[in-house]
Amino acid sequence: MTLRLGDIAPNFQAETSQGKIDFYEYLGDGWGVLFSHPADYTPVCTTELGAVAKLKEEFEKRNTKVMALSVDGLESHKGWISDINETQHTEVNFPIIADEDKKISQLYDMIHPNSNENFTVRSVFVIGNDKKIKLIITYPASTGRNFDELLRVIDSLQLTANYSVATPVNWKHGEDVVIAPAIKDQDIPEKFPKGHQVIKPYLRTTPQPNL
Ligand code: BEZ
Repeated sequence: MTLRLGDIAPNFQAETSQGKIDFYEYLGDGWGVLFSHPADYTPVCTTELGAVAKLKEEFEKRNTKVMALSVDGLESHKGWISDINETQHTEVNFPIIADEDKKISQLYDMIHPNSNENFTVRSVFVIGNDKKIKLIITYPASTGRNFDELLRVIDSLQLTANYSVATPVNWKHGEDVVIAPAIKDQDIPEKFPKGHQVIKPYLRTTPQPNL
């Protein structure tokens, strides 16, 4: 199934390293990250899952639940989690789906046959609290993802969802943001009381509104 930004993220029930989980129940009213990795007991994935475990508090601050997926089984996940904990000096604190029948990988189009017929690529889906897909990223198996960048994007997405702003190039938490083009000039002072700058009529900035 091809999923695009703005589509509703399909719900599913899955066997995971933390038991059987209904995805929507797991997400509750919050945001979610669903990400796949090619296989258990692989080096890059081991570092990725360790890094995500260490970011637990950062995801919590953003009211975001994380779930990983691979097409290996539960027994394999169990042994591998213990390796991740040992080698990455952390504790895997989120569920890993055991997608042996590849149902969820196919539902989310995580297998790209011209890359590899049997394993998922490194897909990331960010799902908003409205259950809509806000971000899709696809990396090849050989490149580990940058999860700090993922947190940065979640910050940007949540600002857009809550404040009618967008974020400019290389924006980081704390920096000025761009006022959405849909906001009329005359409405800016009330909507953005911290002040604003008009650099061009189409380029208007304001301090980050949620600080
Ligand atoms: C890895 O996760 O380490 C990996 C998986 C497939 C190809 C290359 C690296």
